[in-house]
Amino acid sequence: MENLDPNKLPKHIAIIMDGNGRWAQEQGQDRLFGHYEGVISVRKVVEAATEIGIQYLTLYAFSTENWDRPEPEVNGLMSLFVDTIAKEVPDLHKNNIQLHFIGNLALLPEDAQKALEAGMQQTAQNTGLNLIIALSYSSRWELTEAAKKIALQVQSGQLTIDKINEATLSKNLTTSDFPDPELMIRTSGEYRISNFLLYQLAYAELYFTNTLWPDFRKKDLVEALLDYQSRERRFGKTTQQIKSH
Ligand code: FPP
Repeated sequence: MENLDPNKLPKHIAIIMDGNGRWAQEQGQDRLFGHYEGVISVRKVVEAATEIGIQYLTLYAFSTENWDRPEPEVNGLMSLFVDTIAKEVPDLHKNNIQLHFIGNLALLPEDAQKALEAGMQQTAQNTGLNLIIALSYSSRWELTEAAKKIALQVQSGQLTIDKINEATLSKNLTTSDFPDPELMIRTSGEYRISNFLLYQLAYAELYFTNTLWPDFRKKDLVEALLDYQSRERRFGKTTQQIKSH
């Protein structure tokens, strides 16, 4: 951790937490066991992100596509979300962490919606790490919703078509309050973005590791950050242009 350059930290890290099922299978356990262990990794990574001074951390906990998993797994995950949020919110609050949820939350069971609402309300005034949990989220869903919202604004005369620009789109996404992630990490050796923050990741550095999510710890986060800091971020410019700044 002492090798990290505090002046070159990303403000926002996004993580696709993958490999819980395979981790459980390796132990001869049910897939849900992997998700339970995954919560420990969530806690460790949130602690590490706070300690390092990251401002925004987005975790992909459940995708729109995950609704198609076998019912016992979906139900088990929903109970895990409700229990974990109820259990962790006091600690998050103590650590000045503000909790946010993005996704099609209306699809979640009522008790889950209530737990999320309570968690967001209790931490709303906090000024430390913004912990954003993507639940029932998919980027195509989000972009479709943004298109509808913008169309409604045009229809009602609040907005004219010539005023629509990239900022209009950003403002109508579920992430409108957050800067774009500069670093996206995916665990478990899969090299995909899987419908996650497609618009927001336009310039993000992508980091893939074979580590399965339940094994992911602070040292893995630090490794990803060191790799990030070794890269040159050019945003379409030349090396010379970047260096002369
Ligand atoms: C992907 O692994 C993981 C998930 C779909 C669930 C992730 C959820 C958690 C870690 C719990 C987080 C809880 C809170 C409250 C944030 P997978 O099941 O796709 O694994 P596989 O690819 O090995 O099958």
